[in-house]
Amino acid sequence: MKKFIIKTLGCKVNQCESEAIRNALVESGRGIASGDEGGADVVIVNTCSVTRKAAMQSRQAVRQAIRANPDARIVVTGCHAQTAAAEMAAIDGVDLIVGNRDKHMIPRRILSQLPEHADGAVPTECSDTDRPGTNRIDQFEMLPAMATGSRTRPFLKIQDGCDAYCTYCIVPHARGRSRSLPMDQVLKQIEQLGRLGYREVVLTGIHIGCYGHDLTPATGLIELLCLIREAGSIDRVRVSSIEPAELSDAIIDLACSGQDQSGRLCPHFHIPLQSGDDGILKRMHRPYSRDDFKARVQRIIGRLPDAAIGVDTLIGFPGETDAAFEHTYDLIRSLPVAYLHVFPFSAREGTPAFTFKDQVPAPVVKKRCARMRRLGAKKRQEFYARHVGKAVTVLVEATRDRISGCLKGFSDNYIPVLFDGSDDLANTFQPVEIKDISADGVPAGVVFDRTTDG
Ligand code: F3S
Repeated sequence: MKKFIIKTLGCKVNQCESEAIRNALVESGRGIASGDEGGADVVIVNTCSVTRKAAMQSRQAVRQAIRANPDARIVVTGCHAQTAAAEMAAIDGVDLIVGNRDKHMIPRRILSQLPEHADGAVPTECSDTDRPGTNRIDQFEMLPAMATGSRTRPFLKIQDGCDAYCTYCIVPHARGRSRSLPMDQVLKQIEQLGRLGYREVVLTGIHIGCYGHDLTPATGLIELLCLIREAGSIDRVRVSSIEPAELSDAIIDLACSGQDQSGRLCPHFHIPLQSGDDGILKRMHRPYSRDDFKARVQRIIGRLPDAAIGVDTLIGFPGETDAAFEHTYDLIRSLPVAYLHVFPFSAREGTPAFTFKDQVPAPVVKKRCARMRRLGAKKRQEFYARHVGKAVTVLVEATRDRISGCLKGFSDNYIPVLFDGSDDLANTFQPVEIKDISADGVPAGVVFDRTTDG
């Protein structure tokens, strides 16, 4: 049997797309080779380009794949393949480069026959997305892109691309214009996940707040979330990340109501702030101010005091002075943030920020990131500590915690909880009282006597 391996770098959207490719190949009779045993005929590397480091790791992954599978054909796809096709094609041993638009064609290309390149030129199937306005990736690719794998909480890609062109971001160049999976198809795929026994779905996209704007008739994320609730084919829905300006009162209100119903929206919002300094936000081309962000968080907490609010920060953007950094630090410190993702700025060629003169020295960025991460760890512990003595509803995962051997799962407000129980609780909702926080910072709880599963 012919076998393949897929290596995936980058975000949830890339993971969804890799899984879609994997499923299509498996359904067509291809086997999955184990990375250690070798024996793959084809290796697909799904790359990321979000930072210089991610791009470097993508190139490393391609070289490793070639070394470990000398007899396999090597297909390189994803965001780094899209934005640096020539660089990828220059790696000796690469057989085919496929950009994001044609990613969904990969199974078909593999199942027919990969092209030969006897003349030395690596076949490259990438549309031109390099400049704003010249982007031709405008169709929502039709391969059903959901990542289930061993997950209790599968990801479903409902939107791709981005029209925002923040001055630091390579993603619009890599993924093209914003486009959405039509509502009936989202509902169909969620229904399918429900029928397969899944209890929660994580809706993912590149710019999910723009969901539906491109559809005819135009619609929006709130309309979709309301329809998912109405359909009731899955118990819990989570939105992976949403821009502050697009997190409407209606979405927050939806997370407040109907928490005993199917299709309920989790009180968990992951919001990219990037900077808490108005001058930097403007240079980043972010469409909100520090006060707007603060008001959004206060609105959430006013309506949902136990909501998990995760925040992305981008540290060391060109022109970020000590004072500008302190604005970000102070804003996060003053808000009831549950956790923080800290990214160092990485100058990406092709974006305006690449050419900005006032780049921040790397050691300064490193120091600021370390300080932000310490603040993030403190915020996380404070959030968990606030829940000691409280009850949360946990969706129990199929695999136990490796270290303690306990069952584990996430609450609706994204608290990872460990507790004792039997294996047959997997994939059920359990009411768990959080008792304490372990030495390594993980909340531990006990299941109540009664069983809640719905
Ligand atoms: Fe990376 Fe592309 Fe996702 S750049 S983070 S794989 S959108």
